[in-house]
Amino acid sequence: MKVIAFLGSPRENGNTELLLGEAIRGVEESDLKVRVFRLNKMNILPCQNCGGCEETGCCIYDDDMTQIYEAIRNADRVILASPIFFFNVSAQSKIMIDRCQAFWCEKYLLKKTIPEGQYGRKGLLLLVGGMEKEIGVQCAEATAKAFFRTISVPEHKTLAHIGIDEKGAILKHPSAMQEAYKAGQQLVK
Ligand SMILES: Cc1cc2nc3c(=O)[nH]c(=O)nc-3n(C[C@H](O)[C@H](O)[C@H](O)COP(=O)(O)O)c2cc1C
Repeated sequence: MKVIAFLGSPRENGNTELLLGEAIRGVEESDLKVRVFRLNKMNILPCQNCGGCEETGCCIYDDDMTQIYEAIRNADRVILASPIFFFNVSAQSKIMIDRCQAFWCEKYLLKKTIPEGQYGRKGLLLLVGGMEKEIGVQCAEATAKAFFRTISVPEHKTLAHIGIDEKGAILKHPSAMQEAYKAGQQLVK
């Protein structure tokens, strides 16, 4: 089973990374490895809406997204972990998501979905927001749902935490780390 994860936070060892680490630990219980894409460290051009993918389903730009396209196509499980920035996923996450317009064209214009392997395709969404407001989570969830459906991941679980702002504050949450660990375990069961 191939498992990939996108880390959308720029803050090293921040709340999102800590949660993702626990989810990965849960996955690795099953003797699986998780390939992590640290989006903040990658060279990914924002979608130019050039129409270059409309007839082929392939992006015409060759940057770090090329390896992500390949990884998404071959993945059985996809984890997206992002902080809430301005009521949505982070820019790092969103740039990657927008470049999945190539998959959108493949799926909705060319009518080809990414084939499922024997394990099916499932997702996990991890969100952390500093404010005590649900609106950021709601908007991010809508964006993430569009992402998962576009890359032919028909179902995903969401773990979202609000009111977690300081670096490392997630560690003081009574259940978040354990829930992330369990969600990782469940994802590959
Ligand atoms: C640019 C920026 C925008 C933010 N916007 C929001 C927001 O709209 N809603 C919210 O709940 N928190 C917001 N926050 C707070 C972060 O979501 C919060 O600090 C979170 O714990 C960061 O996770 P990290 O440690 O993984 O980076 C924002 C933080 C930054 C830096």
